[in-house]
Formats: sequence, structure tokens, C-alpha cells
Amino acid sequence: MKKLIAANWKMNKTIKESVLFIEEFKKIIKNEKNAEIVICPPFTALTALSKELKNSNIKIGAQNMHFEEAGAFTGEISPLMLKETGCEYVILGHSERREIFGEDDLLVNKKIIAALKHGLSPILCIGENLEQKNQGKTKNIIENQLKNCLKSIDKSQMESITIAYEPVWAISRGNPSHKAATKEDAEEGHKFIRSVIEKMFDTAISKNIRIIYGGSMKPENARELLSMPDIDGGLVGNASLDAKSFAEIVKSVK
Ligand code: PGA
Repeated sequence: MKKLIAANWKMNKTIKESVLFIEEFKKIIKNEKNAEIVICPPFTALTALSKELKNSNIKIGAQNMHFEEAGAFTGEISPLMLKETGCEYVILGHSERREIFGEDDLLVNKKIIAALKHGLSPILCIGENLEQKNQGKTKNIIENQLKNCLKSIDKSQMESITIAYEPVWAISRGNPSHKAATKEDAEEGHKFIRSVIEKMFDTAISKNIRIIYGGSMKPENARELLSMPDIDGGLVGNASLDAKSFAEIVKSVK
């Protein structure tokens, strides 16, 4: 399967800025075929980007979603609403959603079930924070997040899921010089995730599932991270905000 490079713009870019990005990005990226490319803009820009990207090799995704189809949930967006925009992917369980907005594994699990029901492909984010890493709890945290977030998901549904390993301590929070995990540390995390998936499901699923890395991926380190055997792509925040820099990351997929 192709490597997946996804842009997580977080709360950045107006509709106008999003369209300008895409115009520039399309010119640089042309018919790039090595990677599958997904852009996750804010909700407000989804429809405009969907139109811009019609007949292109670039897909769009959302950064969050509620699990109900409709109802009294002020400020939320449902899977039906996302589908209508032309969205194909949805990032779920991002550490900023967990830390700032109090989302837990149970909620993320409901969202994954709802996304799959509506034909959206979830990008499930997991990863330990600095305190958990320092306490030697990384594997424990990752395993629990996988078990809880993927509860009652069956084997056939796993085909549509991508896992993003995002060690929280490696996330840039907008600081371009923040350090990513080393390729060895990232690889170790990915390998472990694959082994947990194998235990939970089976070998074929663990081999076929895409496990992408997130946390300060940038043009300077993308090639080495993406060359590791268990790293199947990247979820890119800060370095995806600039069309040239994101294109460089996409082009480092070989
Ligand atoms: P970053 O963000 O690339 O800016 O570290 C990644 C993410 O949070 O998804």
C-alpha cells in the first residue's frame, strides 16, 4: 500500500488562504504518484477544497467529528455533514483533542464506530506524553489506547483505519525547531503498535494497516523517518502549512 502523507492544519487558514495553498501545492506536486495525499483543513474550508481538488490525486479529511448524525450538540459537526463536503478521512483522538478538550478513549471509540458506519476513514491518533514516557509507561499507554479506541471494531473494518503514532512530546505546537522522535524511537513505537494489532486481530491485518508517524515531521527529517520499515507515512502539522515544505515532505516518499 502507498505511504499516506496527511496535513493536519489544526486551527489555521481561512477559506481564502486554504484555496491559495492548494493552487500553489497542486502546481508543485503535479501528478505525484508515490504517496497518497490527504489535506485536513478546518471544517469551514472543507467544501471549498473539495471543489478545488475534484479530479486530483489529493483527498480531504476533517480534524474531528461528533458520533451522532444530528441533534442538540451545540458546536459539533456530524459524520453526515462531513460526507456532504466530499470529505473521505477524519482525524480522531488527536492529543490536542484529548488534552485541551477532554476527549477520552471511550469517546474516540464511539467516533470511530460512527465514522466507519458513514464510510469515512478514521486516522486514529495515539501516543504517550512526556510524563508517561519518563515513567516508562509508553508501551502500556499505547496498548491501552489501541484496545479501548478499537473496541468492537471487526477485522473487515480495520481495512479503512489508519493509525497515527504521535508521541505527544514530539508535537511541535507551532515551533518549527521542535525535535521529532529519532527514527529509531519512532520505529520502535510503530513496531510495537503493529505487534499489538497482530495480537488484537491477526498477522495479515497487522501487516496491511498503515501506521503513520506524527510529531515535528518536516522536510529535513521526513526522508529518514519515512525510510523506516514500519513507518507508513506521516501526519504533518506545522510543516504542512507551507505548500513548498509540505510538497517536499510528500516528495521524500520513495
Ligand atoms: P506537528 O503536529 O507536525 O506540528 O508536530 C503534528 C500533529 O499534531 O498532528
